[in-house]
Order: sequence, then structure tokens, then C-alpha cells
Amino acid sequence: MSQHLFLPLVIFAINPIPRAFQDSALSPTEEPEDLDCGHPEPSARIMGGSDAQPGTWPWQVSLHQGRGHICGGSLIAPSWVLSAAHCFVTNGTLEPASEWSVLLGVHSQDGPLEGTHVRSVAAILVPDNYSKVELGSDLALLRLASPAKLGPTVRPICLPRASHRFVHGTACWATGWGDVQEADPLPLPWVLQEVELRLLGEAACQCLYSQPGPFNLTFQLLPGMLCAGYPEGRRDTCQGDSGGPLVCEEGGRWFQAGITSFGFGCGRRNRPGVFTAVAPYETWIREQVMGLEPGPAFPNQPQESQTGPWESREENCTIALPECGKARRPGVWPWEAQVIVPGSRPCHGTLVSESWVLAPASCFLDSITSDNPPRDLDSWRVLLPSRPRSERVSRFVPHQNATWDDASDLALLQLDAPVNLSSGPRAVCLPYPEHYFLPGSRCRLARWGRGEPALGPSAQFEAELLGGWWCHCLYGHKGASVPLPGQSPHQLCPSYQEEEEPGRCWNDSHWSLMCQEEGTWFLAGIGDFSSTCLRPRAFSPLQTHSPWISHVTRGAYLEEQLAWDWGPDGEETETQTCPPHTEHGACGLRPEAAQKGMLWPWLAEVHVAGDRVCTGILVAPGWVLAATHCVLRLGSTTVPHIEVYLGRAGASPLPHGRLVTSAPPLLCQTEGGSWVLMGMAVRGSQELFAAIGPEEAWISQTVAEAHFLPSSGSPYWPATGSDLCPPDLAGASGSPKAAALILLLLTPLIQD
Ligand code: ARG
Repeated sequence: MSQHLFLPLVIFAINPIPRAFQDSALSPTEEPEDLDCGHPEPSARIMGGSDAQPGTWPWQVSLHQGRGHICGGSLIAPSWVLSAAHCFVTNGTLEPASEWSVLLGVHSQDGPLEGTHVRSVAAILVPDNYSKVELGSDLALLRLASPAKLGPTVRPICLPRASHRFVHGTACWATGWGDVQEADPLPLPWVLQEVELRLLGEAACQCLYSQPGPFNLTFQLLPGMLCAGYPEGRRDTCQGDSGGPLVCEEGGRWFQAGITSFGFGCGRRNRPGVFTAVAPYETWIREQVMGLEPGPAFPNQPQESQTGPWESREENCTIALPECGKARRPGVWPWEAQVIVPGSRPCHGTLVSESWVLAPASCFLDSITSDNPPRDLDSWRVLLPSRPRSERVSRFVPHQNATWDDASDLALLQLDAPVNLSSGPRAVCLPYPEHYFLPGSRCRLARWGRGEPALGPSAQFEAELLGGWWCHCLYGHKGASVPLPGQSPHQLCPSYQEEEEPGRCWNDSHWSLMCQEEGTWFLAGIGDFSSTCLRPRAFSPLQTHSPWISHVTRGAYLEEQLAWDWGPDGEETETQTCPPHTEHGACGLRPEAAQKGMLWPWLAEVHVAGDRVCTGILVAPGWVLAATHCVLRLGSTTVPHIEVYLGRAGASPLPHGRLVTSAPPLLCQTEGGSWVLMGMAVRGSQELFAAIGPEEAWISQTVAEAHFLPSSGSPYWPATGSDLCPPDLAGASGSPKAAALILLLLTPLIQD
């Protein structure tokens, strides 16, 4: 009914340009009362933001579909709301206006919505050329079924004219009820969040988005888009904020510079939020609203804001570097934290932010089970590197599955006061869920939890990551598909550069796996506690816990993947499944798709002194078995230079392939389908083989992980979860009696 009050179509037929649109010299103060815009009543998350004061952003609206908040929007005129097209378009179709309602004057979305009123939507208008967010034109106009009641908490925002220039570097504000972090919804009572964001110039933004990010994705900024945020991330809009306004104050009134449109993740480094720039759409907006008075106000840009470098040409490309994971010296971890609880041994954990330490919950198990939160928190202390005094603990948050699931044996401890990360302690980087640690990544073990490990020379703690297929299938994921890069792995497997002294058990020592990417250290995994004998071979990936950690800490250092050189091996795109037959581990089984014609994946090319090539057999992730005569020349006392190439010898249909000139292996297939190495050809023969069986003791003593198929048919290697060392690991003998075979310990070739 009230629509009749707002002027008849006739007038527009006569005068197609509404008064407020005429390019008159109307100064803001001369504008009529009902078109007053951008003036909040004087008074008074979004990611990294805070609660807004009621009435601060009176143009902010909440768009509901069904019963819940979906998107934000801004009131631009009594009957018009500006929002984002992608809120209303699914699979190329515009959703019916009748499904939507507009909530005005909302502060908290919980409980009785005092001072709030609701309007239904009469029409949704989207630019014809809108298809998807990355291609721009992500804006929409909603015509309200009846005009909003303007008041102290409901007022329109001013729109910029096409000629309006927002100075880059200006601090503007974004508002909304969206997620407070990736996949982390705004908690009750759902109070409107505000965050201060800086406008980024086009060049600066394009420079940031040209940095390789997740899955090498980069992005081309298009005209009509605008970026706001910070190179270092952390403050941003997020899911659910879309359609909401980015507003900047000029000459005492607020103009809407942008509409929240999209981003890559939320608050990530070098990935600022992308907004639809409003100014370029002046004409489109005017065309749509024409005919319904009063329309939005497009006040002149105040004089004092019209100068300045809107986009200075020499604007430099300031990308942000990781703020975490930088060790001053290898092996000295500035994030190493020791939690001291009176009456028990120190517990080793890791500093993950200014205020939070991550440690195994099992260190504090008594505290978890008896009382939660623990009563004696007052007496807990945290020791951090180069801090004169210990820190107090104010909160203890165990992982909800901590007591029954080893992979979730985690707790977060909040320090009473944040520590200064620019002096002394630093935070380790944590991987996002999609992080893909490349096979071959350099890693080290760090102490984790209680327990006193037998410390050896630091080289013993160096490790290198195994490829996903090996790791996944070796640890018994029967018939399961191998996670692709970007899907969280079930385990991370390091292979060590120096093998264990046979017979040594490292009982009661726990380890975390730190992996390095481009000089930055990540906490990649935590020790699998079932394998306390020998160094742990499988680690639970930490990336599956990053949502929980960032939810609790609101500021742990989650860091992007830094190494993108996946190479031909890393970039598996086709799903593979582990061989179903895992009774004897994954030995002798081929990846299902026989990838790239790889029929004999255990075959290695052993290049000796640059001229001889023999066959080697991969018997464990770090070990190749070869014929002695091929590797060592008779009478020679020096060890030649040996290089082993994996993954390329096995492409020919038969094991004695093209290049291999000496010592072919004899492989037999068991009924179960596994291939078993029976022998290696003796010198000068292709038919006579040195049997492997008699060397079982020597091989298994040297290579604990080598798998044998005993005649009894039962697996030789103890079942996972067993604490027993393999029976004959102690007392290794030197070399095989026959000396026909030699074991080569692999160390990766470093390329620079
Ligand atoms: N597309 C999101 C939405 O529908 C907005 C995401 C903004 N993301 C960002 N990183 N700024 O709510």
C-alpha cells in the first residue's frame, strides 16, 4: 500500500531522471531528508573482527532464505537493497524472490529481534552478464515488497558515482554475520561483526593474487572488482558475509565502495577479499531503480577526497612472507614449549601462536578424566625458548576425542599473557587441511609429550617423506583409495636417512614430525603412539586438526603450502586404490592402475660408477637389494659411486628390461597375488640365481621393514600395534655368508 505514496509511474514517464540522480550541484546538506544517506545515528566478524555496536551500521541487512541468514546486503533506498548476485543464482538460475526476506535493523540474530523489521522481496535483479563470481558483475538489487521504515537503526548508505575514486590504502569497514574463520560459523549470540580493511590498489591486489597459492591457483582481477584486506591476511570477510557492504567514510558520510563477493579461503596470506566495486555500476543501478521514488543517493564525492594517489603507478608489490616456522638454526626450535605440571615429567609441546601451546593431551590425562577444566591450572608453567621466566596457563582445552583416539591426542593450552613473537619464541606453521607435503620433503623429528628419548646425533632425526601410495598402502589401507594431493592423508611416513641401530627400542618416546617447505617449518604430524619400538614410521597428519586448532585459538599460524614443484611423480590426479591383499603388507603388489605402465614398481636401476647398470629390488622404502658382483668389482676395496633410479626401470613388460645389463632378479607370484623375490642372478648368468631365502636373517636384521613370506604363510612382521621388536633384530651379523647380495641404503640426491 505504501508504494502508492512513493510516486506514480507517470512522473517517471515525463521525467526519466529522478531528481536525486540529476547531476546537480546538490551539496550533501541540501539533499532532501528522505534521501539522507551514509549517516549512522551518532552513538555509541567476519574474520579477525569484533562485535559492532548496535546502530553503527544501520544500512546493513540480513538476507534470509527459509529461516536462516544466507547473505548480507545494504539498504540503498527505502525499497532497495544492494547485494551480491551469487547469493541468488544457483546453477545459472535466479532463485524466486518469494523465498527471500530482508531483515532490517538487526544487531544480534539470536532471540527476539528487537527493533528489527522484516520485508519480503518483490523482485531480484541481476546484471545480464553475471555468470560466476570470478568473472565479475557480482551484484544484485532487491526490490522490497514495501519500503523499509527508516529510523535510528535503519538508514540507507550513500552510493558512489562512476567517477568516484576511493584512495587506495584507505581504511574502510566490512560488516556481516559470516563465518569467523574458514568453516567456523559466528558463535551465538550472532552479533553483527565489523572489521577494518584497507583498500588495495589494483596492481597491489593483482600482485598478491599472482603468488602461487593452493593448487597453484592464481587469479586474474577483472575490471569492476576491488580488493580490500592485508597482504598478511588474518582480517577478512568470509562465507556468509557476501552481499554485505564495504563502506568508507568521506567528508562525514559513508559511501559503499564494495560488495563482499569472494576470496580464496578466508584471511589467508596474499589472498585479500575481493569485492564488487560499486562505482562502475552507477548506470546499471540507476536503470534498475528508475521509477520508484525515492531512489538511492549518489552524492558528489567530497572535494577533499578527490585528490591523492588513487592508484599510484609505482605502487610496489608487497607480498607477505610466512610469519611462522622460521628456525634460526636447524635443530633449534624457537617454538619448542615444555609444559611443567607439578609432580610429573615435563611435557614437550609446540607454540602455535602468541598465546597457545599445542601438546599431547595424554600428558595431562589425569587432569582430563578427573576434572575439566583442571583445578590446578594455577600451578602449571610453560617454558619457552629465550624467555627469562616461565609462562602461566589460563586455559586448557583437550581435543574432544583425545582420550580414545591416538590421532586426536591433542590439547591446547592458553598462556595467561601472549608472548612477543618478534623476540625469542616463535610459532610453528600449521598446515591447512588441503596441504600436500610433497614426497621427498625434508623433515625432522621433534620431541613430543613426555618420555625421555635416547638422543642421538642430530642426523638420526632427519627424515624424508615417502610418497602417498607407499605410505597409505604400507600401513594397511586394504582396498582403500589412496588420497590424492589436496585430500587429507591418513598418515605421513618419513623414511630416515640413517637407520636404527638394530635392537634398540625407543620405548616411551613420542615424536612430532616437522617438515620444511622453502625454509619454513610446519608441524606436519604427531607420532603414532602404537609404534613405540623403533622410530615411528607413520605419523598422524596434523592438517586434519587445523579446523579445531584455529577454532579454539583464533589466531594459530595456519600457513599455505609453500612448495609447488610437484613434478611428474607428485601430481597424481587419478584415484588409485591400495591392493586388496595386504596380509603381508604392500610388498609385491602393484598399484592398481599399473600407473604409467609401471608393471614392476619395485625394480630399481642401479648405476655404478657411471657405467654399469644393474637391477636392484626395492625391499623397503629406503633399501634396495642388488647383486654384489654388479656393484663391487672384484679386488676393489673402494666403494664406487652408486646412483639408484626408482620408478623407471619397471616400465617394460619383463623385469629384464632395456637398460639393465646385469643380475636380473627372479620373481614368482604367490597364489595370493603377491610377487616374491626368489633370487638374484649370479655373476655371468641369466638362469642361475642366488637364493634369497637363506639371507632372510641378514636382510631382516639390516632392513627391519623388509617383508618376508614365510613358508608357514603367516606374516613375519608383527601386527601393527605390537610393541615387540622383530625377534632377530638384536645382534646383527655383518654380511651374508655367500656375499652374493648387497643392500644399498638410499639417500636422496639433492638437486639445486
Ligand atoms: N562468497 C562468500 C559468501 O558467499 C564470501 C567470501 C568472502 N571471502 C573472503 N575471503 N573475503 O559469503
